[in-house]
Amino acid sequence: MSTDTMDGRTALVTGASSGIGRELSRVAAADGYDVVITARREERLQTLADEIEAEHGVSATVITQDLADPSGPDELFEAVRNAGIELHTWSTTPAFPSTGRSSTPSGRRNATCGE
Ligand SMILES: NC(=O)c1ccc[n+]([C@@H]2O[C@H](COP(=O)([O-])OP(=O)(O)OC[C@H]3O[C@@H](n4cnc5c(N)ncnc54)[C@H](OP(=O)(O)O)[C@@H]3O)[C@@H](O)[C@H]2O)c1
Repeated sequence: MSTDTMDGRTALVTGASSGIGRELSRVAAADGYDVVITARREERLQTLADEIEAEHGVSATVITQDLADPSGPDELFEAVRNAGIELHTWSTTPAFPSTGRSSTPSGRRNATCGE
């Protein structure tokens, strides 16, 4: 990610409740991105969101979603839309199932990381 400020831009990070996803969330926030963080364990996500907002002064939105559910990815992006959030970049390396078909909403290419 760039070291330039990303004020006003939003990054979606899946698998954000632990491991790589949690660290990517912190990196994105440190770069100035607002973040949407998702996984199944809400309490862990909320703790991370509180920490990110306090440390980096960006907005952190928690959306809990089971991405093993076939409808999970579409429900996730619908929740993002319903929250009025426009995504600028996303990291989907952890937690998105690699089933050989697109895991992102119709018309989007599956991606492990994108901008
Ligand atoms: N760590 C490494 O050094 C390394 C190296 C190479 C590759 N990888 C791969 O990178 C991926 C992530 O590694 P990690 O170390 O960050 O793993 P991790 O700490 O176990 O994190 C996995 C994340 O995925 C979420 N997740 C799991 N199943 C989910 C589901 N059905 N729906 C939504 N979220 C789900 C978990 O959150 P919830 O349980 O809260 O849903 C958690 O936030 C893994 O596939 C791993 O094999 C890791």
